[in-house]
Amino acid sequence: MIKNHFYLLSGETTTIAIAECLAILESLNMDYKAEKYDQILLLNAEEESCQRIAERAAMVHRCCISLFKCEADFNQIMTSLRDTDFQKHISARETFAVRVKRIKNYSPEVSSLLLEKEIGAFIHRSVGARANLENPDKLFYGVLTDGVFLFGISVRESERKALGLRKAKFRPFFIPSSMNPHLARAMVNLSRARPKEFFLDPFCGAGGLLIEAGLMGCKTIGSDVDKKMVRGAKRNLLHFNVVNWNIILSDAKHLPFNRFDSIATDPPYGGSASTKGARPEELIEFFLQELDELSSPKGYVCLGTPLTINVNEFISGTSFRIVEKHLIPVHKSLTRQIIVLRK
Ligand SMILES: C[S@@+](CC[C@H](N)C(=O)[O-])C[C@H]1O[C@@H](n2cnc3c(N)ncnc32)[C@H](O)[C@@H]1O
Repeated sequence: MIKNHFYLLSGETTTIAIAECLAILESLNMDYKAEKYDQILLLNAEEESCQRIAERAAMVHRCCISLFKCEADFNQIMTSLRDTDFQKHISARETFAVRVKRIKNYSPEVSSLLLEKEIGAFIHRSVGARANLENPDKLFYGVLTDGVFLFGISVRESERKALGLRKAKFRPFFIPSSMNPHLARAMVNLSRARPKEFFLDPFCGAGGLLIEAGLMGCKTIGSDVDKKMVRGAKRNLLHFNVVNWNIILSDAKHLPFNRFDSIATDPPYGGSASTKGARPEELIEFFLQELDELSSPKGYVCLGTPLTINVNEFISGTSFRIVEKHLIPVHKSLTRQIIVLRK
């Protein structure tokens, strides 16, 4: 059944969070219509999409069935509330809580506390259900963002908290250039990786991207030019009980592999991640030419590089084109770009 759901997104990088959800739907061949707001994505799609996104996405906090969307104006909200048939969503025997979240400083004239109180009183009057703020059967969730108010029933929280348990400091093998698991998972999703299909990270380092692809059920292959990394990544994958993987010692400029369905990688750019004497630009240029042979005609490649690297220049001789680009400020002198390529 087609339904409207809205997703509360992580505030770090909204463009990646939205792109990640849409990439998951694309990998599942699900059609959708999308409306984008600051930290909120409203999707009209198969009901199952909510479960799939909540299980896989790194940048989603919560998923809600949408009951209505209106202007962020107190009277408009009360009118939309009166037009909603709550008997369809909660019975007199169930308990409920109402939570209203304000994104950033949107609609400061609308009090979220007053909304919670008035909406709660309205639901109680309409169906006779009682409030229970500690452990409700149903959680009604409202969001004020971008001049609109979205209201729905929380269906589930995402697996984002579990990702935190895979941070570099919790792994047996740790390197300073390790990517955080949230970004690693988002990059795997942006590569449109699918369970049971082949996923490659040819600059695997300590294996952050491989862990995420492996736990999503991909057949995961990694390689690195440094023996210490190959050994360390293997320890990390075993530690998180990843199955169906292989990691080998190999130079990404000459990879001994055949076709891959999806590729996500974070090549070194000096600093703490060694390029083994090569110029970072040279490495990326050679590697993209090598990938041109390896990536399947329908496959995507997700690449993390510093903003100073002009990827456009390096793909000019290949069959790749850039389909997405997201910027992540890391510190004063480094902005990372996450680029998605496709043939
Ligand atoms: C930025 S790190 C990858 C970090 C990884 N994403 C993680 O979360 O641990 C880049 C890796 O590329 C490896 N590397 C450098 N030159 C390489 C080459 N020519 N071929 C393959 N790997 C290379 C380095 O040894 C390093 O482990």
